[in-house]
Amino acid sequence: MAILDILEFPDLRLRKKASPVTEFNETLSKTIDDMFETMYEAPGIGLAATQINLHKQLIVIDISDNKDEPLVFINPQIEIIDQTPEEYDEGCLSVPGYYETVARPRMVRVKALDRNGQAFEMETDGLLATCIQHENDHLNGKLFVDYLSSLKRERIRSKLVKAHKESA
Ligand code: NI
Repeated sequence: MAILDILEFPDLRLRKKASPVTEFNETLSKTIDDMFETMYEAPGIGLAATQINLHKQLIVIDISDNKDEPLVFINPQIEIIDQTPEEYDEGCLSVPGYYETVARPRMVRVKALDRNGQAFEMETDGLLATCIQHENDHLNGKLFVDYLSSLKRERIRSKLVKAHKESA
């Protein structure tokens, strides 16, 4: 397995829209394993393929304390079951060091394919519902900072740009 590079805001490649996964093969399987390893190492609770500059509809998530409940969502379709806004302090491996409160619908139904191409469906709320919506946004080129005021977003952008220059 391998640790992959994660794109960081404001990299424009994070704005690309992902296309559906059509081939379920060894390459996909290896990518999924690498994404989990990269996410666990970061550490994070979710990673979308967009963040590793792979513009395919593929998400990995594990919100468990022991990092032993890996979830894979391929070509996910999300339907909101309960619009009631629920707030979480969100972070993102592509926006390192920043956490901001974001409100999202509290309950969703997800239809997706697993790593073998088998269809499954789940209804979920709480942190997992928030996480799935956050990761699915990545596949559409959207970041959690887009939900903040433009002032806040600009402040984070300029600080990250400065940090990138200093580390270059
Ligand atoms: Ni993220």
